[in-house]
Amino acid sequence: MSEIAKLELEGTIYEFPIIEGTENEKAIDISKLRDTTGYVTLDTGYKNTGATKSAITFLDGEKGILHYRGYSIEQLAENATFIEVAYLLIYGSLPTQLQLDTFTNNITKHTLVHEDMKQFFEAYPAKAHPMGVLASMTCSLSTFYPESLDPNRSPEAKDLTMLRLLAKLPTLAAWSYKNAMRHPFMYPKNKYDYCSNFLHMMFAMPTEEYKVNPVVVKALNKLLILHADHEQNCSTSTVRMVGSSQANLYACIAAGISALWGPLHGGANQAVIEMLEQIHNDGGDVDKWVLKAKDKEDPFRLMGFGHRVYKNFDPRATIIKKACDDVLEQLGINDPMLDIAKKLEKVALEDEYFKSRNLYPNVDFYSGIIYRALGIPTEMFTVMFAIGRLPGWIAQWKEMTENNEPIGRPRQIYTGATPREYVDIAKR
Ligand code: CMC
Repeated sequence: MSEIAKLELEGTIYEFPIIEGTENEKAIDISKLRDTTGYVTLDTGYKNTGATKSAITFLDGEKGILHYRGYSIEQLAENATFIEVAYLLIYGSLPTQLQLDTFTNNITKHTLVHEDMKQFFEAYPAKAHPMGVLASMTCSLSTFYPESLDPNRSPEAKDLTMLRLLAKLPTLAAWSYKNAMRHPFMYPKNKYDYCSNFLHMMFAMPTEEYKVNPVVVKALNKLLILHADHEQNCSTSTVRMVGSSQANLYACIAAGISALWGPLHGGANQAVIEMLEQIHNDGGDVDKWVLKAKDKEDPFRLMGFGHRVYKNFDPRATIIKKACDDVLEQLGINDPMLDIAKKLEKVALEDEYFKSRNLYPNVDFYSGIIYRALGIPTEMFTVMFAIGRLPGWIAQWKEMTENNEPIGRPRQIYTGATPREYVDIAKR
């Protein structure tokens, strides 16, 4: 195959190098396009644009493949813990026992947040969405660690910021829930592993002993692993974009949390359950809702369906669907939302509209049903996604800064008014 792409513009032929990734992904390197031709490319939504080279996550949307650092999502979800996966994503290889112990201890040491932050919580209205609280509190962490604002600090100092984030995000997340309930905050307990500690901070009460259920811990580990990274998605690109201006890591992650919140991205997990409840309350007629989703006049979309990259199946959805059946059975829960979800999936997958557009259930379609079974309230679903995605965001930020990537600054094609004279306000 030619290693050069040829482009003819106004009678001149320009040549651009073809580059190939380790999984044979091909791209035309147009980094010199504007300098040599005066043209830019236009690609709304970046559907065809590779924004970076990355060695973290590989996915093949046609084949339904997802790998973190070369390991398949199926193997990781089955065998690893979330903290092992976090280490893998951030540092590039699976940890030895010693590395894992050190990493775990370092995270455990930092799970407390500054006492002054409790006052911030008190100032939020009771109905505050926990994603708004989480994004703000994450950015607020930067005010307690001003040294993190220095983009040129040592790698060890940067590592400390990463550890603090991994340690404190579950605390802030659980406390945003406790605050909404006006329940007392539960402090982290160092005897627990990462997931058990989060469950303890969410569900324990100072008045009684809390027993962590191993079925719940296992399911949570799996869900967090499935969410841990997904290459250049909307929130990750946001983290990299904000990081490219050398803003501190807390601010970058807060921006990622905000991007994740939208219902077309991580917010879909909350939207799916709300949709299933709506269908359930409406009598459970899934055909009617599939019709609505197909109606271009109707803004309703089948939430948890479709994906920018996956065009055959989302491997995370396959794992979650199975986990969903297992967890509900192990916990002895019969959730009518699961029946509706399965009916909806069946009808949609046989429908020409969905078939022709390659729309399949994505990671968010069944995750909410598991979260419900674990006792996580609906408004916290996207917060769970954020906890899961954190190591991916950190790994991508680290890679971007270590590669000295330039500030992100797309071009545009201007379509506004051409030059005109200023008109005095009295004459407009
Ligand atoms: N229900 C009905 N129609 C849909 C849906 C859906 N969920 N998703 C896409 N379509 C249609 C869309 O109307 C368009 O039709 P047409 O060609 O006739 O104009 C076609 O399919 C292509 O859709 P698109 O919006 O151009 O595709 P996209 O790649 O820009 O959007 C998506 C991807 C995930 C935003 C979209 O499929 C969607 O809105 N899904 C529902 C929200 C959702 O579940 N989001 C979670 C994504 S996975 C978790 C994550 O990583 O964020």
